[in-house]
Amino acid sequence: MIYDILQKKRNGAENSREELEELVGGFVRGNVPDYQMAAWLMAVYFRHLSGRERADLTEIMLQTGDIIDLSEIKGVKIDKHSTGGVGDKVTLIVGPMVASQDVVFAKLSGRGLGHTGGTIDKLESIPGLTTELSLERFKSIANEIGIALAGQTGNIVPADKKMYALRDVTATVDEISLIASSIMSKKLAITTDGIVLDVKVGSGAFMKTIGEAEELSEAMIDIGVRHGRKVAVVMSDMSQPLGKTVGNALEVREAVETLKGEGPSDLQELCICLAGKMLELAGTGNSETCLERARSSIESGKALEKFVEMVRSQGGDPEVVSAGKRKLPRASIMKEVLSQEAGYIASIDTEGVGFVAMMLGAGRRNKDDKVDPSAGIEIFKKVGNYVERREVLGVLHTNLEEVVEPAAGKLFSAYRISADKPTVPDMIRKIL
Ligand code: URA
Repeated sequence: MIYDILQKKRNGAENSREELEELVGGFVRGNVPDYQMAAWLMAVYFRHLSGRERADLTEIMLQTGDIIDLSEIKGVKIDKHSTGGVGDKVTLIVGPMVASQDVVFAKLSGRGLGHTGGTIDKLESIPGLTTELSLERFKSIANEIGIALAGQTGNIVPADKKMYALRDVTATVDEISLIASSIMSKKLAITTDGIVLDVKVGSGAFMKTIGEAEELSEAMIDIGVRHGRKVAVVMSDMSQPLGKTVGNALEVREAVETLKGEGPSDLQELCICLAGKMLELAGTGNSETCLERARSSIESGKALEKFVEMVRSQGGDPEVVSAGKRKLPRASIMKEVLSQEAGYIASIDTEGVGFVAMMLGAGRRNKDDKVDPSAGIEIFKKVGNYVERREVLGVLHTNLEEVVEPAAGKLFSAYRISADKPTVPDMIRKIL
């Protein structure tokens, strides 16, 4: 009986696999009502799940939908996932980096929601490029050139969609076991050889502290191991936006610059670390040699060539690489935001910056909103930089005249300026 399953969890006992099947399966089929699932989620929030329960829940969730079998694609396939942040254009860079080193990167990505962006929105700012690929086409592009990036098709983990919607309205999103099972069910539903997780830490991330990030990372590694999948984690800083741009076309431009070896140092460091880990997980060498291969994929121009191949094969205009700005959508309004005081940038409210980008049109408040590919923010000053009074902190890009002034005020308020020079957080916080 569902009542007994809830009572057990409420009292801190473990649910058996059969009980979890009855609960989750029944919920997806519509036999278990929202109020019972909500009660169980709240019980989990306070009582948590054991390693065995998490692994069972993950498997039960992933089995409610399609399994994407990539075994027809030749070669070692490594997936990558980020727990989400602001200015995170890493997938556009590490994908071509590893594919240029003969490791296949066939990734299904999502769209942005709220203050965080999504790879699919970024890619679609490239004129002509489509991310709506049938599974057959997706596999055939990956087989031909070693990289394909598509939107999630079909019916992957419907249990997660239904459970997440309920978590969202019952204040039960931020529980480690539930986050870990949600993320890993979607990753394990795609049959790659290994997964590198970029777990973000800081004001712009789900996990605000390194302790929480470690707990989530260990939970996800444990689920992966129990399912016989290789998993590595890089915990990276999200206490300020990543790189110097937030917004779809602006981020594509920055990704291209990074692939040319001209990217901002924080973004470059993270991409080399993640691509190195992906190559290592693929069994192409030890950590040192893989980091070296990651670096040389950029220095040799091979990663950039692979990016061009990917854009072309998905119908996009490869001139975004050579003609940059001129080929990407541009906003009609660009507004400089000036600092009203002098001092060091002590911190940036990253989530706040993400919401400013959303106001400008770069993101979605609701799932069905349209994004403006040209909208976003260029960030000129980051933590540790000195700013003079009336010097530019950033530039807003938008087509919405009415939001310019409030957005400018909000961007300035996201900055905390101090007379003391702060310590700049390390980009790579920990590797597991
Ligand atoms: N991302 C997910 O996919 N699921 C969560 O629960 C939280 C973040």
